Amino acid sequence: MLNYKQELAKKISEITNIDTSELISYIEIPPNPSLGDYSFPCFRLAKEMKKAPPVIANEIKEQMLDEDWIEKIDVVGGYLNIFTNKKILVENVLGEVISKQEDYGKSDVGNGKTVVIDYSAPNIAKPFHIGHLRSTVIGGALYKMYQFLGYKVIGINHLGDWGMGICRTMAGYRMWKDEYDFTENPINSVLAIYVRYNKIEKEDPDFKKYAVEELKKLEAGDEETVALWKWIIKISLEDYQKIYDLIGCKFDSYNGEAFYNDKMDRVVKELEEKHLLVESEGAKVVMMDENIPPCIILTSAGTTIYATRDLAALLYRIDTYDFDKCLYLVASEQSLHFKQVFEVLSKMGYKKYADRCEHIPFGLVLDEDGEKMGSRKGNAVTLSEIFNEAIEKSLKIIEEKNPDLEEKEEVAKMVGVGAIIFNDLANNRIKDEIFDWNQVLNFAGETGPYMQYTYVRTQSILRNAGYVPENADYSKLLDSEAIDVVKQLANFTDTVKSGVEKNEPSILSRYLIDLAQSFSRFYNEHHILCDDKDTQDARLALTEAVGIVIKSGLELLGIRCPVKM
Ligand code: ARG
Repeated sequence: MLNYKQELAKKISEITNIDTSELISYIEIPPNPSLGDYSFPCFRLAKEMKKAPPVIANEIKEQMLDEDWIEKIDVVGGYLNIFTNKKILVENVLGEVISKQEDYGKSDVGNGKTVVIDYSAPNIAKPFHIGHLRSTVIGGALYKMYQFLGYKVIGINHLGDWGMGICRTMAGYRMWKDEYDFTENPINSVLAIYVRYNKIEKEDPDFKKYAVEELKKLEAGDEETVALWKWIIKISLEDYQKIYDLIGCKFDSYNGEAFYNDKMDRVVKELEEKHLLVESEGAKVVMMDENIPPCIILTSAGTTIYATRDLAALLYRIDTYDFDKCLYLVASEQSLHFKQVFEVLSKMGYKKYADRCEHIPFGLVLDEDGEKMGSRKGNAVTLSEIFNEAIEKSLKIIEEKNPDLEEKEEVAKMVGVGAIIFNDLANNRIKDEIFDWNQVLNFAGETGPYMQYTYVRTQSILRNAGYVPENADYSKLLDSEAIDVVKQLANFTDTVKSGVEKNEPSILSRYLIDLAQSFSRFYNEHHILCDDKDTQDARLALTEAVGIVIKSGLELLGIRCPVKM
């Protein structure tokens, strides 16, 4: 497909001898298409070319007029306002979308580059809490977006599978296992035990000793204790997997904290050799440059901590993946932790890799009253509860709106899950997410169901037509609503690219909303099924292309599209 910006920059570069990559960054898209499809300010070239901007603009204009994809060029002051030939544009874009189908928009810019995405990472034996929703959803979307652009992606679930949390559950399990049922949903019993143990420990701190005992046995490799530990991890993962399947997210490794037990000596040894470890109040720490507290490597009791494990994990990831980027999808509360870890890595002599690491923070999930979700009122807290509720509510809406729909349960699943995902990705990730059921499932708002509904509409139009047009006459699509849609379709790859550049899937979700709204405007203004067969064919082609891009875009976010709803 003709990449207009690229082509424009190339042409201007031939005329001015200035680098294409520099020129491309100057190209603007005027807010109002009546001022042109692209605009190029010549001011920045004035110094180099030793001419006044309007003179340069006129020179460039003269030499570009015979390009067939350009319809006209206006020179306004030092600006070139370029109007593209709409018929060629439409032909180019729709031709490409329809011929490539679900491959439309893919790119190879990432070929040869490896991105590690550390995401989800729940803590075993504690509920898969709403707090891990965002990491899972944003990480899952980035995983697919990077892949779409040709990167090699390694998704890592750095499970919290070691330490006192899981040991409390183990101690409690030994005390009370006969009181619980582990046949149906063993995870629920395990969680109940965890909660019960904590409650007692809160009132009687001495109770902690049983969990400490478990940790000691675990560290000593006691066979029976290790077996119990493994079993709890197994049933937890089986539970998480249900959520991962719903969201469609994938991990290439489940190496969690425990995996690094035997890999932390290396961290301590390297730090000692490089004279970076200093004593501070009995602990061994690395001092930081900036005004941030030192990074503890060994506590005064001689034990390793979260940061020690993250350093061991980084050394392992450098050796194993030789990554070009390593992203951490973790709440903003852990910003200091990652600053420290990256700085220690850099001081250890791995600056190149430290510079490739990035903490990708995000805001909290708040309920409709602006309070931290799950903090009171007993509203749903575990992800299974939330997803189940969304699916149930969606089913109710479907029962009301379309009682005869086939496979209602399956559609309700897509809608409910899609609603939660889209709500999570709809805004800038750093903003707190408001979780208001009325909003999340609002078919008319800027929501997942609205996007799915738009897709369903494209499919029902095609079904009603009864055929898919081959060879449409694209000169029938020159109205401003159609052109607007086509221009957006053309921006799909660039949108995914900027989403990846900023590690911000909301750039893609915003784009999809805009596309859906543009298509609605087109749909409201024009009859797609009409008397003139050529016009109908062209409009159907546009409809098909919109369906393709919405479906691909939603899939990148982890949302599936029903054909009917
Ligand atoms: N399990 C941790 C938590 O819930 C998140 C782990 C993130 N990844 C990492 N490499 N530290 O807070």
